[in-house]
Amino acid sequence: MQGIEGKTALVTGASRGIGAATAVALAKAGAKHVIIHFNSYRQGAEEVLDRVRSCGATGELIQADLSEMPGIEHVVAAVREREIDILVNNAGSLVQRATLLEFTPELYDRVMTLNVKSAWMITQAVVPGMLRKGGGAIVNVSSIAARTGGGTGATVYAAAKAAISGMTKGLARELAPQGIRVNAVSPGTVQNYFHERFSTPEMLEKMRQNIPLGRLGTNEDIADVIVFLCSDAARYIVGQTIEVNGGWFMA
Ligand SMILES: NC(=O)c1ccc[n+]([C@@H]2O[C@H](COP(=O)([O-])OP(=O)(O)OC[C@H]3O[C@@H](n4cnc5c(N)ncnc54)[C@H](OP(=O)(O)O)[C@@H]3O)[C@@H](O)[C@H]2O)c1
Repeated sequence: MQGIEGKTALVTGASRGIGAATAVALAKAGAKHVIIHFNSYRQGAEEVLDRVRSCGATGELIQADLSEMPGIEHVVAAVREREIDILVNNAGSLVQRATLLEFTPELYDRVMTLNVKSAWMITQAVVPGMLRKGGGAIVNVSSIAARTGGGTGATVYAAAKAAISGMTKGLARELAPQGIRVNAVSPGTVQNYFHERFSTPEMLEKMRQNIPLGRLGTNEDIADVIVFLCSDAARYIVGQTIEVNGGWFMA
């Protein structure tokens, strides 16, 4: 994939799921160095690092809980002086399904901090290094929930992901003149740990039945689009949120 070779990438939430598949796909596409962020699943992050190395790249791990400011500040301090070419703001979670009346201010802050504020602050830390190198690519991970309002108890998560799609446009407009392309991917339902935690098999089957392709997504379905957006093949794509959902929702 042209435009990835020799590059340094940071993928947040790369210990499993979409982020893990993206870290490996970037290494396969020729990235030179992959920074693998994780929170609780160190073993998964170490396995991803092994897979990155077996693709011929180097890598490193960074641990932080991005639902709280100290964790965000830890990542910001670690990457501020680095020269990163590719940033994938992927770490995110529903955190907990809760309806309006169940929601607490603390839960609201956790969902927004993890899914929105961390992406904003990490982007702010990485962009100066990209500017020193003359450009870069940023891919944010939104969600189909941004367009639909989300499933039961996922309203604030949906709002957070809508913020990501809006932020993607504003940052794209601000940074494109300086050689940095910002885009987003918006997964539908990907069958991974995220839904093991937050959805029942019955909920997943109901979702599957509404997908024209007749199957749920895989981590690789999303990772391949992220790598494409980072590559030269996407050189004229700026500020877009690409829906990757098997046809479930057509924008
Ligand atoms: N799965 C889906 O159907 C779906 C659909 C639409 C959008 N998305 C979005 O896709 C992105 C990746 O999710 P996924 O599907 O790959 O889910 P996943 O398999 O659950 O992986 C989530 C990743 O985010 C990290 N993470 C979670 N909470 C964190 C926290 N408090 N601080 C730092 N990192 C944290 C996890 O780290 P640890 O495991 O190390 O704790 C993990 O690496 C998320 O932004 C999610 O909202 C997913």
